[in-house]
Amino acid sequence: MSKKKIAVLTSGGDAPGMNAAIRSVVRTAISHGMEVMGVYRGYNGLISNDMKPMQLRDVSDIIHRGGTILYTARSLKFKEPEGLAAAVENCKKNDISGVVVIGGDGSFRGARALSNAGIPCIGLPGTIDNDISCSEYTIGFDTAMNTAMSMVDKLRDTAQSHDRCSVVEVMGRAAGDLALKTGIAVGATYIIVPERQFSLDEVIERMERTRQSGKKHFIIVVAEGIGGVDEIARKIEEATGIESRATVLGHVQRGGSPTVRDRVTASRMGYHAVQLLEQGIGNRVVAVEHGKIVDYDISEALNMKKTFDEELYQVALDISI
Ligand code: F6P
Repeated sequence: MSKKKIAVLTSGGDAPGMNAAIRSVVRTAISHGMEVMGVYRGYNGLISNDMKPMQLRDVSDIIHRGGTILYTARSLKFKEPEGLAAAVENCKKNDISGVVVIGGDGSFRGARALSNAGIPCIGLPGTIDNDISCSEYTIGFDTAMNTAMSMVDKLRDTAQSHDRCSVVEVMGRAAGDLALKTGIAVGATYIIVPERQFSLDEVIERMERTRQSGKKHFIIVVAEGIGGVDEIARKIEEATGIESRATVLGHVQRGGSPTVRDRVTASRMGYHAVQLLEQGIGNRVVAVEHGKIVDYDISEALNMKKTFDEELYQVALDISI
């Protein structure tokens, strides 16, 4: 009897720890007697049949690397019926009986479509945004937070030397979790996130209040979902007379060697995904719940609403005085 064969791909924005997840999928599959294909550039590789068999040593020396050795893409073609049909045909041609898709919500929609078309897929949450509703944690989040923190620490040095205000935009798409946790870690005076109503008057009032107790430099963290850091910095300077500078951290947050947390979570999630495919189970998203690895039906996962950590936001407000 021929061996069961599965495939693995990375899709959407890359995230540190994706390589650790690929490694775990490949090694788990092989140690459980399966074969694995590595698919290049997300769903585009399924459509164009751009894939190759992965052996144990193909994933050596990658656990510590950022990015993804399989490359990634946001495939528009896959959203078309012809793209999906070509992907299904290539899976069948290559005897692929299941696919592990490492990415975000958009990638999971693709995984659902492929599962419904007869190729069982398992989604692994890989994004620096930590915006997957069914999971407490996404691969790449911890590394991105640490990168953002060390960048803002550097900005603090110069803001402190000049008695300035540094207004910093942190990534996260529509989610404010990266901004919130980075903001707390850098001791921001104010954290502006899409999940909370914000008024610039309140930010300025807080700056004035802390100035009265002796504060001379300020860090304002702004989530990407709010944006407009140049405008915010200009208005702060106008209202307070404190010289203000805006910085957009940008894609630096997506790179770098993954932290312990990202490597370990990715390894655990990859292992779980292969176990599901081994049993012929598809159409699931792997998630972290109370620290444990669990899985959800993809539609159920996509319909869940991400909760914002209001309690933590209150902590940030109370201690940034
Ligand atoms: O989803 C990860 C992310 O880095 C978001 O934080 C950001 O909004 C987006 O991707 C940027 O996408 P791109 O790399 O296509 O510019």
